[in-house]
Amino acid sequence: MNFLITAGPTREAIDPVRYLTNKSSGKMGYAIAQAAIEAGHSVTLISGPTNLDIPEGLDFLPVETAQEMYEAVERWIGKADIAIFAAAVADYRPVDIAEQKLKKHGDTMTLELTKTRDILASCRPEFGFKGTLIGFAAETQKVIEHARIKLEKKQCDLIVANDVSRPDIGFDSNENEIFFVEAESQEAIAKADKQHLAHLIIEKSLSLRA
Ligand code: PMT
Repeated sequence: MNFLITAGPTREAIDPVRYLTNKSSGKMGYAIAQAAIEAGHSVTLISGPTNLDIPEGLDFLPVETAQEMYEAVERWIGKADIAIFAAAVADYRPVDIAEQKLKKHGDTMTLELTKTRDILASCRPEFGFKGTLIGFAAETQKVIEHARIKLEKKQCDLIVANDVSRPDIGFDSNENEIFFVEAESQEAIAKADKQHLAHLIIEKSLSLRA
């Protein structure tokens, strides 16, 4: 089976030395990529900037911005049977990137942002992806409810939801606690290290595929 996996944060430049980003370490996405390799599958990993070692035995595509991640997914998703989107992609980026380092002026400063393209939501309508599509939902409240809205809106087969208001799981921790959210059901998976959960996510994706 061919897997396409996104991982890590994106970086949206403000000027040559500053950017907008988030706390994603890439651990969840890299663990999923590693689990897929260990199960004998082919993996394309599209990753924003992280400090992690690149797992051996996969095609690795490093990107920085949401737009670059969009273009990499658009280019490679055609060869995937199963796509899993664990990346924390910026929803907005600065309208303009200053050519020179911005100087300090007044007491306040306004940064104008514009929406990025939603990569996951583009898979069915824009990229024509017919395979098994799995998104994540990073929520701080009404986790299942919000995940199910994403499931429908982004035309996914499964959403892996996590509560990112908790410091012990989710962003930049070694453990996570997730819910498998489908149209008619949900399943709570107990807190565990991301490697263990990654294997469960791969197994779940294969059962959906079957
Ligand atoms: O990287 P770690 O430190 O290990 O942390 C793991 C994690 C918390 C980042 C991961 O478990 C997780 O929740 N990933 C999704 C983060 C996120 O941005 O979720 P969201 O609810 O904002 O987005 C929903 C889905 O749409 C996600 O699959 C996301 O990849 C995708 N998306 C969002 C915006 C966008 N422009 N394009 C997208 O494809």
